[in-house]
Amino acid sequence: MAYRAALVTGASSGIGEAFARALPDGTGLVLTGRDTAALEALAKDLARPGRDVRVVAADLATDPGRDAVIAAGEAAGIDLLVNNAGLGYFAPVPRNTIAQERAMVEVNVMTPVVLTRALLPGMLERAAKGGTRAGIVVVSSISAFLPVSRLTTYAATKAFDLHYAEALGADLEGQPCDVLALCPGFTKTRFGDRSGMKSWMFHDGADPNDVARAAIDGLGRKRVVVIGSGSILTPLIARLLPRRWANGAVVASMKALKKKAGH
Ligand SMILES: NC(=O)c1ccc[n+]([C@@H]2O[C@H](COP(=O)([O-])OP(=O)(O)OC[C@H]3O[C@@H](n4cnc5c(N)ncnc54)[C@H](OP(=O)(O)O)[C@@H]3O)[C@@H](O)[C@H]2O)c1
Repeated sequence: MAYRAALVTGASSGIGEAFARALPDGTGLVLTGRDTAALEALAKDLARPGRDVRVVAADLATDPGRDAVIAAGEAAGIDLLVNNAGLGYFAPVPRNTIAQERAMVEVNVMTPVVLTRALLPGMLERAAKGGTRAGIVVVSSISAFLPVSRLTTYAATKAFDLHYAEALGADLEGQPCDVLALCPGFTKTRFGDRSGMKSWMFHDGADPNDVARAAIDGLGRKRVVVIGSGSILTPLIARLLPRRWANGAVVASMKALKKKAGH
């Protein structure tokens, strides 16, 4: 599917940057994040004759930040929305500050909900008029399938993202818009360092370019793409294992991963 213009949140690094790089040269871009220098460098790199590339530096944990991004998406007439920006803190809940807990919910949950609801009508209208299709990607995580201690709130926000995207896809059946939930396993981005996770967890981590590519290829064909470490076992365990054992299974798989990475 060749999209006219895409809005990518969290485009300043990692999987979001990979999304921006993977889209065809003909697709206009609205690149958002907080790191203006990184966004401008990416915009320069991806500029092509006739291509509309815009940068919006905004904090998506705030209403004014979300409003600025929505306005830019509308102005660019996007037909692809990639809800990718996200963050996590690796610690038991009492060790996180309330501000950290709140930021995860604001960016990982509130932002995709508000951006999607605000931008969807215009996206549907343009697609219907042009006889094309719109697309929405919600970046969830492999951690969406199970309760994960030390990533307690983060994993719960990603469970929300997964359920939201799956049900939104069903809400939009018969309408010109495809929805995809992307559930990556460990991926080599800045997320590991920023979240305080251990480097050995990313030993077999996926390349963000492969992750973004799998989502773009899957959009319109699948509703959920699970990719990277644990992508086969985790959804299976989540279905088959009694809930009370689920977190134990996560802890056991972490121990196995640690051993494999030689730690
Ligand atoms: N890496 C993994 O192992 C992994 C696995 C599963 C799912 N994911 C998900 O993948 C998505 C992308 O993460 P990543 O791995 O690419 O990590 P990353 O390299 O840390 O990128 C995170 C992006 O989110 C943006 N962001 C964070 N807080 C923001 C805020 N308050 N306002 C605006 N933008 C904000 C960052 O922008 P600025 O730095 O410019 O603020 C950055 O561009 C996230 O939703 C994450 O949960 C990652």
